[in-house]
Amino acid sequence: MISKPVIMVNYKTYNESVGKRGLELTKKIEKYATGNWTVCPQAVELRETIKSTGLPVFAQHIDAVEPGSHTGHTLFEAVVDAGAVGTLINHSENTLELWEIEMLVSKCKGAGLTTVVCANNPSASAAAAALGPDFVAYEPPELIGGDISVSTAKPELVAEAVRMVNGVNTDVGVLCGAGVKNGEDVKRALELGTEGVLLASGLVKAKNLEAVIADLESGLL
Ligand code: G3P
Repeated sequence: MISKPVIMVNYKTYNESVGKRGLELTKKIEKYATGNWTVCPQAVELRETIKSTGLPVFAQHIDAVEPGSHTGHTLFEAVVDAGAVGTLINHSENTLELWEIEMLVSKCKGAGLTTVVCANNPSASAAAAALGPDFVAYEPPELIGGDISVSTAKPELVAEAVRMVNGVNTDVGVLCGAGVKNGEDVKRALELGTEGVLLASGLVKAKNLEAVIADLESGLL
């Protein structure tokens, strides 16, 4: 289980996170961050990233398939073998059916992987919490990749997601994401009752990584 509050960085499929550039980004986070950070590189980058860092490394996605003939899928067993300590599940850019989410949460639990199930509204967050993941990440898709953070644009919905998830299962932590770019966004998210943030473009595409890492982290204090 990862420590809280947490800043989770989803590398998505940005050019800036491919190969050496992704490893550099991970190194900089490790060097300049002192709080709890986790990184989520692409599946193809998992093993190399894990070899090169002491940070907790998550997969971005796992497919709900058993070992066998499933060309192009990301296999749970391969993610575990690579050494990932957790995974995002049902990101709005790679959504799954309910049975698939349930299967993956259960497989991850069995193997001790931390699960972060993404949800696009407070009701879906509560439904996700009922499956018993470690975290639910509330991310309104329309704010993803934008300039205004979810904690600024929709504070009442973040608070609502926290309230609804707590109403279902108080063991499930709530994260929020979309447009998170600085320490103020992180601070607001925590004030609304979340246990951290999930972000991507604000850091992965930043020119001055050191400054953005320090700024984001100032919100944890
Ligand atoms: O998984 C993180 C995410 O979808 C938010 O992306 O670019 O708005 O930080 P971004």
